[in-house]
Amino acid sequence: MRILAVAMALPCSLNRYLLLLAQEHLEFRLPEIKSLLSLFGGQFTNSQETYGKSPFWILSIPSEDIARNLMKRTVCAKSIFELWGHGKSPEELYSSLKNYPVEKMVPFLHSGSTYKIKIHTFNKTLTQEEKVKRIDALEFLPFEGKVNLKNPQHIFSVLEDYGLDPNCIPENPHNIYFGRWIADGQRELIESYSVKKRHFIGNTSMDAGLSFIMANHGKVKENDIVFDPFVGTGGLLVASAHFGAYVCGTDIDYNTVHGLGKASRKNQKWRGPDENIRANLRQYGLEKYYLDVLVSDASKPSWRKGTYFDAIITDPPYGIRESTRRTGSQKETPKGIEKCPESHVPVSLSYHLSDMFFDLLNFAAETLILGGRLVYWLPVYTPEYTEDMVPWHPCLKLISNCEQKLSSHTSRRLITMEKVKKFEATINWTVREENKMPLRAPLWSRWA
Ligand SMILES: C[S@@+](CC[C@H](N)C(=O)[O-])C[C@H]1O[C@@H](n2cnc3c(N)ncnc32)[C@H](O)[C@@H]1O
Repeated sequence: MRILAVAMALPCSLNRYLLLLAQEHLEFRLPEIKSLLSLFGGQFTNSQETYGKSPFWILSIPSEDIARNLMKRTVCAKSIFELWGHGKSPEELYSSLKNYPVEKMVPFLHSGSTYKIKIHTFNKTLTQEEKVKRIDALEFLPFEGKVNLKNPQHIFSVLEDYGLDPNCIPENPHNIYFGRWIADGQRELIESYSVKKRHFIGNTSMDAGLSFIMANHGKVKENDIVFDPFVGTGGLLVASAHFGAYVCGTDIDYNTVHGLGKASRKNQKWRGPDENIRANLRQYGLEKYYLDVLVSDASKPSWRKGTYFDAIITDPPYGIRESTRRTGSQKETPKGIEKCPESHVPVSLSYHLSDMFFDLLNFAAETLILGGRLVYWLPVYTPEYTEDMVPWHPCLKLISNCEQKLSSHTSRRLITMEKVKKFEATINWTVREENKMPLRAPLWSRWA
């Protein structure tokens, strides 16, 4: 009933598409799809029918081009179909298909065309005989083309949803869909960019799938400039460059930036001569997107005042596998002496996590273009976590906040913020306006 009501309320220009999602990183899916739709001009309105953990969502999108663009980017979704019919039983599906406008079907069913029909089930396996039965039951559709199983022009799918519980598989599906396949998503990037096969890696190199999700949450697009202030081995730069952005980064660690020191791979003691971020980009044919990486301390950014970046995508150190540190002397620097002599080699001080996030947000607020996004991981101690603890800045609007569990008591949250206001250095934002909670409260003390 709800679905019919929504469908009737749809403006005529919106078509309904069935999105088949991967059952991985569930919380990251909605912000990814929303971000990508807004990047390609398809709004995410209340008429979208997203069903939490279900792999089947129905999206209302103005054009097939937008649906195709979405699939050129998403790593959370597997495929998209133009939805021709939907029901809770075969009978409901067939009557819904009979109501689908014939003029919308005909271009794909005419006598000169070739096609095949596939059966896709979620949480149940069907026998070949059961599949054939389902295909035969569709003979009332005006198929006039020829079946071609190897190389058809058009592929149609029946998709049956048997729910999420593998221990309680119902006899009949909860939902059945029929649609014309439009495109697949970018799931294969997870394998082709796997860090296992990456030229230069470190202990904390970001997983390929999550790197692409972060770039999608950040709405990274062609010709953008993307910056990672905690660049490490450049995993996040690789993902952004894959989407056509020019990339740069900084890291406090001289050896990481220069590709020197001990290797992170088993059976290899020292890093080889060309193990560095530029070589990683070269490995994937993306070297032209490499701007540069510098040794620099994120607590003392070395940038002239200005707005440079379309997105800042980063994975700050958590103090577990990678220590948080900043440059400085153990002694307090006397006031008035700000410059170090050239021979000075900075020693590192511990860099409290709350200070680090404070600096990161301030830096993003200052250097992002209006509408630019900051995407970063926030470590949390789950028993004490509340939403108030998410760092805040008056120039940055929180877009999404998704949890990835790490252990029973710890997790990290992927935070996406968008710059919505011009930066003014004079803004006092150390205290939350609404609840006066000090931003620098030691909420990460258990991690530091
Ligand atoms: C979690 S790792 C980033 C991993 C990276 N995303 C990758 O794919 O390899 C965090 C990085 O922050 C760097 N770091 C720590 N403190 C820093 C600081 N004050 N300024 C800049 N980089 C810092 C560490 O050297 C480390 O390489």
